[in-house]
Amino acid sequence: MFADRVLSGMRPTGSLHLGHYHGVLKNWVQMQLEYECLFFVADWHALTTHYDTPEVIEQNVWDMVIDWLAAGIDPAQATLFIQSRVPEHAELHLLLSMITPLGWLERVPTYKDQQEKLSEKDLSTYGFLGYPLLQSADILIYRATQVPVGEDQVPHIEFTREIARRFNHIYGREPGFEEKAVAAVKKLGSKKSKLYSELRTRYQEQGDDDALEAAKALLDEQQNLSHGDRERLFGFLEGGGKMILSEPEAMLTIASKMPGLDGQKMSKSYNNTLSLREDEAEVNKKIRTMPTDPARVRRTDPGNPEHCPVWQLHQVYSGEGTRKWAWEGCTTAGIGCIDCKQPVIAAVLEEQKPMRERAQQYLDDPTLVRNIIADGCEKARKLAQETMREVRDAMGLNYG
Ligand code: TRP
Ligand code: SF4
Repeated sequence: MFADRVLSGMRPTGSLHLGHYHGVLKNWVQMQLEYECLFFVADWHALTTHYDTPEVIEQNVWDMVIDWLAAGIDPAQATLFIQSRVPEHAELHLLLSMITPLGWLERVPTYKDQQEKLSEKDLSTYGFLGYPLLQSADILIYRATQVPVGEDQVPHIEFTREIARRFNHIYGREPGFEEKAVAAVKKLGSKKSKLYSELRTRYQEQGDDDALEAAKALLDEQQNLSHGDRERLFGFLEGGGKMILSEPEAMLTIASKMPGLDGQKMSKSYNNTLSLREDEAEVNKKIRTMPTDPARVRRTDPGNPEHCPVWQLHQVYSGEGTRKWAWEGCTTAGIGCIDCKQPVIAAVLEEQKPMRERAQQYLDDPTLVRNIIADGCEKARKLAQETMREVRDAMGLNYG
């Protein structure tokens, strides 16, 4: 249970573009091979800012899931689900809200930033203030160890760690913890319980971190401990109580430098995107009409690639040979801009080809997508329910 588990979520903002692919999805596709992964559609999060346009959410949810599948997220490797289909997230959010100091929420940097950025919306709502806590619930309910996020989200993960710590501190002290922990030590068998006790003493009396690591490794190897005893033994090592919620780590996703059609970062708000499954003819048209070096007015004028957004796309899509050809052709007026754009068009189409193909089967038969999500929700829900049983217990809500 201490194995790595990756969790990440995305708001359903409509169809995804190649910036999302290069910035986030490629990374998810890689991670699903290396870790247990859970990826979910954060539909409640969308309502924290877009509560007044609920009608767009549904279509956006399904479009986004198809984009994920198109990008190569494999439902046999990763669990895909929708937040609102696992209502336990809301229950944990509520229970955590009891112990969340208001000041912690008000101090989250995205709170004021987003309110200013989205100033046309009234975001002085309870839901918007509480949204980092909803994110904490998303993460803690699966005991995720790693959360891939962009830099702007790192404070939310830090906040989540603080919430987990506070929760464990307040509720981790079950009645009779010491006695139960001592009994659990005995269950390790005489040799191992002696070793565990020695390592624990070395850590607690001399601050020996190696001893702590060795003791944790010893516990990791134990197969037939109950979940409760395992938790107690981990908690007992560090002198605290039981660790009910585990602290996740942020896995920083390197910001994508994916340029848009105008040289600015690719983003829906700049209207400079190529969508993940953009129609072939549209890709052609959009790239052919892209602006180029404004100084290159006539075909015979040499250009400067540094002043051209097409050159930025060559950095993403072209190998050294093609880049050299484009650079020389541009600076000597040896090629025209349409020539220069051809290899970029070809490379984008090539990248999108498998995505378009994968998406087609889901567009042809939407029940496939519904079934993938139904399976994922069921799996996620089981995990969430396990955590909730312990949380309710710890908070004195176990009256059967
Ligand atoms: N808040 C994230 C965003 O706006 C989305 C999100 C919601 C998330 N819950 C999460 C990301 C849990 C990682 C883990 O991008
Ligand atoms: Fe840009 Fe290529 Fe035209 Fe030069 S030749 S201005 S790099 S599109």
